[in-house]
Amino acid sequence: MSSKVSSNPLRDPRDRRLPRLPDASALVVFGATGDLARKKLIPAVYDLANRGLLPPGFVLTGFARREWSDEEFAQFARESAEKGARTPFREEVWARLAGSVRFVQGSFDDDAAFDRLAGLLDELDKSHGIGGNAAFYLSIPPSAFPVVLKQMQRTGLANATDTPGWRRVVIEKPFGHDLASAHELNALVDDVFTPSGVYRIDHYLGKETVQNLFALRFANTLFEPIWNSQFVDSVQITMAEDVGIGTRAGFYDETGAARDVLQNHLLQLLALTAMEEPVSFGPETIRTEKLKVLRAVSLPTDLDRYAVRGQYEQGWLAGARVAGYLDEESIPADSHTETFAAVRFGIETRRWAGVPFYLRTGKRLPRRVTEISIVFKKAPHLPFDKTDTAELGNNQLVIRVQPDEGVTLKFGSKVPGSAMEVRDVAMDFLFGEAFTEALPEAYERLILDVLLGDATLFPNNAEVEESWRIIDPLEEFWARTTPHRYRAGSWGPAAADEMLAADGRRWRRP
Ligand code: BG6
Repeated sequence: MSSKVSSNPLRDPRDRRLPRLPDASALVVFGATGDLARKKLIPAVYDLANRGLLPPGFVLTGFARREWSDEEFAQFARESAEKGARTPFREEVWARLAGSVRFVQGSFDDDAAFDRLAGLLDELDKSHGIGGNAAFYLSIPPSAFPVVLKQMQRTGLANATDTPGWRRVVIEKPFGHDLASAHELNALVDDVFTPSGVYRIDHYLGKETVQNLFALRFANTLFEPIWNSQFVDSVQITMAEDVGIGTRAGFYDETGAARDVLQNHLLQLLALTAMEEPVSFGPETIRTEKLKVLRAVSLPTDLDRYAVRGQYEQGWLAGARVAGYLDEESIPADSHTETFAAVRFGIETRRWAGVPFYLRTGKRLPRRVTEISIVFKKAPHLPFDKTDTAELGNNQLVIRVQPDEGVTLKFGSKVPGSAMEVRDVAMDFLFGEAFTEALPEAYERLILDVLLGDATLFPNNAEVEESWRIIDPLEEFWARTTPHRYRAGSWGPAAADEMLAADGRRWRRP
């Protein structure tokens, strides 16, 4: 009998709905005691364990400067999971995971520490059967990437030479700070790891609502025929946060909103909204289509009007007084770093010619909300009295990335009564109501994909470089200007509203 015949005829081995378990492997987190590890990565690992998605031979290894034992790091990891995990904390799940937590103490220039890490992975081959499989998560400041990569090259950590196992590296954004530095970094990473082993994280792609863009656009008949300049007036993509810069003053003041969010999360959302249908659902086909969009993105010639950045001043949020950016701890009093950015982009393709894509992001805005709003053109002719349609706006499709994850369709409806009055109404789809499963965290999905070797939701280096090509001229322009001020708790500087008003449009108030 052929070995291809499945023992269970109901189970198609290609059925991706069945949970897949990664190979036994080690996840090594550099910067294991940092904010990202504590708030996101470790809780995500726990959630995966709780959902039964980690293999029995999984080992979580932390690498950091603190003088900690395995047990101390395990305690830190437990507290992070208890506090940050999405799923309920269960002792039996933790007990299984805790037995496979290791810690390597050292700084990034400490050769001996990296030798110890290499030795540990050899030991884990024997104790946990990881077979040489290891993913290295660089949850560290971008300035430390080169030294860590070189250490991995020196110690052979980047290639499992004596074993058949895989070695992968996960790199957090921002990937470089401009095109030239990203290019250098890409060359360095590709020199150390095989390109297929490099996973550049943009956690927005791990969000269910972002992946739902594929379903919405390419699994339905309804939207695609009107998804073009013939029907679409404009697109608005907003990523607003009510929080300030928290404890990340050093990082943030060097980075600013454009490099922190616009260059990556927002341009990825733009690419997914505007891309053509991929020929299949795989990493190369999707990246190819996203890249084509990014290559076609243009900046307006009039940057003074169409590229607005701002910095928050003190104000009120949720009934509390909050400090201005310049009064935040460790921010220089003369900092020109922006905490808000709004830009009008164009996409020079037949599908999108003439359709403005307005992107904005900011800290200390009234609330945390990310959404993509497709604003349709007005009907070419209205056979009603003008007064009957006075309350009718443009049709809109709003993809609510977070919170209240879902989709809203806004259109006109007759107001009941004897007149033919037409007013805007909304039809709502909410993930929380339509499905019983809670939405997994982006990092759960992405860490699992790294361990499974699935790069579909990770931008490649060409996309990253192309995004810098778009952002660099903006940064150069802004470097010659001072950011506008906006009150904390407001929707950003007046100049951002004026930018849309100049085009006869308004920002949607989410
Ligand atoms: C990160 C940015 O990439 O995304 C942060 O560096 C921002 O500044 C965060 O706060 C927002 O993520 P989310 O998933 O909460 O929208």
